[in-house]
Amino acid sequence: MRKKIVAGNWKMNLNKSEAEILYNDLESKSYPDDVEAIIAPASIYLDSFSNASNVSISSQDVSANSNGAFTGEFSAEMLSSINLRFAIVGHSERRTFHKETDLLIFQKVEMLLKYGITPIFCCGESLLDRESKNHFNVVKSQLSQILSKLSSEEFSKIVIAYEPVWAIGTGLTADPEDAQEMHSFIRSLVFEAFGSEISELISILYGGSCKPSNAKELFSMDDIDGGLIGGASLDSESFEAIINSF
Ligand code: 13P
Repeated sequence: MRKKIVAGNWKMNLNKSEAEILYNDLESKSYPDDVEAIIAPASIYLDSFSNASNVSISSQDVSANSNGAFTGEFSAEMLSSINLRFAIVGHSERRTFHKETDLLIFQKVEMLLKYGITPIFCCGESLLDRESKNHFNVVKSQLSQILSKLSSEEFSKIVIAYEPVWAIGTGLTADPEDAQEMHSFIRSLVFEAFGSEISELISILYGGSCKPSNAKELFSMDDIDGGLIGGASLDSESFEAIINSF
């Protein structure tokens, strides 16, 4: 049975008191036993939320380096020292605005695994890629490092998030059938690389304008195991409604 996960990526939103209000709201709710609810606040709040018991806490990023002269960065060891269990890597906003490459993202994954932190590995095509029918190739190449270089034991610890760039923050959601088609394609790549046990085990989340009104339909698809939510995770009621959409 695959793990169902709903993760809220708060991105660079909320000042400290706003973040605390949302965090306290989410901590006080009860969620279905079979769904892992995760929030990814800005890094400066991670430590103060690290004792959460009802929601799990994720970083939005991590350094690919272990320590040293990397001003402004924070390491996987630091995340592990505050008991964090998850970190998002390879988000399209980091690929675009920070020019992150597949190799760099792979190095981040390795670093997280070394410290026992689950990477939430993002992939997804641009509108141009989809319009030119190149979306499967793009996603395959984004996944190629982790598919070819990780051991099956390492890969089994990863969560994948498919986030078509054209759906992020735009209000445009992938049709459930289109999303399912890509999720099933990703699972087939995992099957080719690691076999059926791991491909059936791995959770693949959908992200991109997922909200209470479309989450149920998306989550009902065979290969969609939950969501990575941006805008709708900044409101406790809508995030809760998404968590209850399975
Ligand atoms: P939106 O839900 O705001 O489209 O953002 C999705 C996302 O980028 C989550 O990481």
